[in-house]
Amino acid sequence: MARCRVLVPLLWSMIFIVHAFPTFLASTYSYNTLDDESNSDYIWSPPLATGPAPAPTPLSGAIKGGYWPSWKAEALPPSTIPTCFSHLFYAFLGLDTSSYQLGVTQHDDQWMKSFTNTLHAKQLPAKTFLSIGGGNSNASTFSTMASNATSRAAFINSSIEVARKYNFDGLDLGWEFPNTKEDMSSLSLLFEEWYNAIEYESLSGQPRLLLAAGVYFAPSFFLSDVYREYPTDAISKYVDFLNVMCFDYHGKWNTSVTAEHALLYDKSTNISTSYGISSWIEAGVPAEKLVMGLPLYGRTWQLLDPEVHGIGAPAVGVGPGEDGFMPYIDIIDFNSANAAPEVYDEETVSTYSYSGTNWIGYDGVKSIREKVKFANDQGLAGYFIWSLGYDNNWNLSTEASRAWDSNNN
Ligand SMILES: *[C@@H]1O[C@H](CO)[C@@H](O)[C@H](O)[C@H]1NC(C)=O
Ligand SMILES: *[C@@H]1O[C@H](CO)[C@@H](O)[C@H](O)[C@H]1NC(C)=O
Ligand SMILES: *[C@@H]1O[C@H](CO)[C@@H](O)[C@H](O)[C@H]1NC(C)=O
Ligand SMILES: *[C@@H]1O[C@H](CO)[C@@H](O)[C@H](O)[C@H]1NC(C)=O
Ligand SMILES: *[C@@H]1O[C@H](CO)[C@@H](O)[C@H](O)[C@H]1NC(C)=O
Ligand SMILES: *[C@@H]1O[C@H](CO)[C@@H](O)[C@H](O)[C@H]1NC(C)=O
Repeated sequence: MARCRVLVPLLWSMIFIVHAFPTFLASTYSYNTLDDESNSDYIWSPPLATGPAPAPTPLSGAIKGGYWPSWKAEALPPSTIPTCFSHLFYAFLGLDTSSYQLGVTQHDDQWMKSFTNTLHAKQLPAKTFLSIGGGNSNASTFSTMASNATSRAAFINSSIEVARKYNFDGLDLGWEFPNTKEDMSSLSLLFEEWYNAIEYESLSGQPRLLLAAGVYFAPSFFLSDVYREYPTDAISKYVDFLNVMCFDYHGKWNTSVTAEHALLYDKSTNISTSYGISSWIEAGVPAEKLVMGLPLYGRTWQLLDPEVHGIGAPAVGVGPGEDGFMPYIDIIDFNSANAAPEVYDEETVSTYSYSGTNWIGYDGVKSIREKVKFANDQGLAGYFIWSLGYDNNWNLSTEASRAWDSNNN
């Protein structure tokens, strides 16, 4: 398993290999020579005689987050997670629909027992979070729970009990999404009561549990014709940081033209990462509480005409992958099997590839690097990836970490 621990950006200039990329990319990249496929316990140490020993890169403040899909636990055990992640999110526990307690399956119990201890024991210890809910959970269960003081208290109690039992550092709410104005008021109360409960619980002597939440790319929005606004005052007061889901702007739900589902800039609409992030800041959430989401997957289209293959090209349906969804690792295989050109689009800061009538919009090495640089320049807390298991040999995870560190120097 390749390690992507990045200790000293400066050192990279001394120990790199330049890979010549196909000319359409017109660029070169430097790579870590230290990947070791054969030994998963390989620990990096600085090469001798290349200059003074470097100081370690401080992780203070930087959130280099990643969601760990527990349903892929066997293929992706926590011991194999590289140290380029500083915050790991155990995805996901669900809620019981009547007691509002967290449901811990036997499989969860088995993996949660060692999750935190394994990640704390790494050379650069990571913080661990218990993520509750997620994209496949039932939003109406959260809505009912949050609407009532008794059920909020039951939920909060259970979340703290489970987090402590399994030694997590924090909790992460994945309510996707609050649907109404009432939901947003309930969410505000939930954050306030949850924060008060974790504060109170920390009087027992352990460090306070951290509180995070996954949120929509912008703080106010229309979905299904209902206007919604996140409770940004309560968020600023009670939540340690927000994982902003800066992706899925486009996809199988509209196949008329190709589109980049996680583009940084869009000059014709407000559906972009730069707009989402700046509107969270304008709404009053401090930049240092925002964590930018990076998708390690693409969305695919079927082109109308193979000769017309830019962003916004006419399309007739979804392309390859599972219902128009493709993990980065599969995109790399697809591109290579089909000799598909990879294009970096500077205007939107996104990447696409195409072959025949197949078209894939995603983030490659360069767009990841530019987006991380943007997050750093904006003073954000960091970034997170969705999800571990989609990367190609940790390439994008490594690049994100490296881009964050080098932008600070
Ligand atoms: C979600 O939960 C509500 C009530 O708890 C239930 O009525 C609804 O059928 C559930 N939806 C799905 C998709 O399971
Ligand atoms: C609140 O939830 C509790 C427990 O789930 C339930 O007994 C009570 O009736 C609910 N109250 C209201 C006003 O819905
Ligand atoms: C949760 O509730 C139980 C039972 O009332 C109580 O003993 C425990 O202290 C509570 N835990 C927290 C963290 O509030
Ligand atoms: C689909 O996307 C195109 C291009 O952005 C837009 O013009 C069209 O209105 C969208 N269709 C629907 C049904 O949203
Ligand atoms: C984008 O948002 C700004 C302010 O938030 C608004 O003034 C503008 O009309 C929006 N543009 C589009 C294309 O919706
Ligand atoms: C990904 O990493 C491997 C080795 O770890 C390297 O050979 C390959 O060129 C990288 N690919 C990209 C697209 O960065």
